Amino acid sequence: MHKKCLRYVENNFPRQEGKRFLITGASSGIGLECAKVLLYLGAEVTFMVRNKKKTEECIASIGEEIGNPVHARIALYDQAKPDSIRACIASLPKEGYDAIVLNAGIYIPPKGSLGEDGNPLTLQVNAIGTQVCLDAFYKRYPNAKYVIIDSIVNSSPRRHNYAPYFHTRRDKRMKDYSLSKRICMNIFANALEDGANVFMTHPGVARTNIIHSFAPLFKKLGNGFLYLFTHPAWKAALGMSSLCCLDNPRGTYLVPRGPFEISGYPRKKKIPMRVKKDANAWRQFWEEEKN
Ligand SMILES: NC(=O)c1ccc[n+]([C@@H]2O[C@H](COP(=O)([O-])OP(=O)(O)OC[C@H]3O[C@@H](n4cnc5c(N)ncnc54)[C@H](OP(=O)(O)O)[C@@H]3O)[C@@H](O)[C@H]2O)c1
Repeated sequence: MHKKCLRYVENNFPRQEGKRFLITGASSGIGLECAKVLLYLGAEVTFMVRNKKKTEECIASIGEEIGNPVHARIALYDQAKPDSIRACIASLPKEGYDAIVLNAGIYIPPKGSLGEDGNPLTLQVNAIGTQVCLDAFYKRYPNAKYVIIDSIVNSSPRRHNYAPYFHTRRDKRMKDYSLSKRICMNIFANALEDGANVFMTHPGVARTNIIHSFAPLFKKLGNGFLYLFTHPAWKAALGMSSLCCLDNPRGTYLVPRGPFEISGYPRKKKIPMRVKKDANAWRQFWEEEKN
């Protein structure tokens, strides 16, 4: 673990022995960094992921890095497939978790990528996948804390209407990403209204594996830019680690404290008011969609 990360964790978070956490998409990026912190603090962490071998390697390397026996489990699923999400969650232990981090997501998949039901893949994984996860988890573990991951680039649909973006091949992949992250914010707002113990954070901008499907030259340039101008994944993950480890009031929203919220250690922020109309629009869309 980076020595600044270690210092922050030791100064700010209590030990987590006896606690149990689950993180979706913990095989890479900020989900992996959050898992590392929680394991370091003595918690048990379930990595809910789609790639078993890659995750086993991650866990082995965390064990070597932090030098403790780590209490890690793996649960396999594919967030692009609602049935796979529900089957995975149904197979998890009854006892439940102290916190569940709904982190898995994609940025810009290869052109023309569609998920089930002909939805653009980014909307399928980041929006529908996150909503299906929350619905299935909440039914099973109503008392857990839920942490939703937003983004600074989230944006509203036209006329607060989500229907035109689904079941269609639009190839507006950047727009799909920002829309999918607005939907994550809507999922948070609706869950909060419904009484769930829900929290939200966005990581700013960090170099992770998120641009892995870019063409090689763009990937190289993009990673160079992210390395130079944004913060590292361990720092980007401190918001979600903090929401897992500390007792915050439900509805707490954490963002990086630096200029334009691009980088920095986490700070609290008021939930943006603009989300209400979109949250209602998403609830209405989702009620029709799931039936
Ligand atoms: N990095 C940033 O600057 C940034 C900024 C704002 C928000 N975020 C959000 O942070 C979250 C994590 O992203 P990251 O930056 O850490 O990227 P990352 O390194 O690419 O990690 C994404 C994780 O999601 C998993 N995933 C992707 N598609 C999946 C699927 N169909 N089923 C199950 N798991 C799937 C990936 O699994 P594999 O390892 O198998 O690919 C990986 O574990 C995302 O929600 C992203 O939108 C990131």
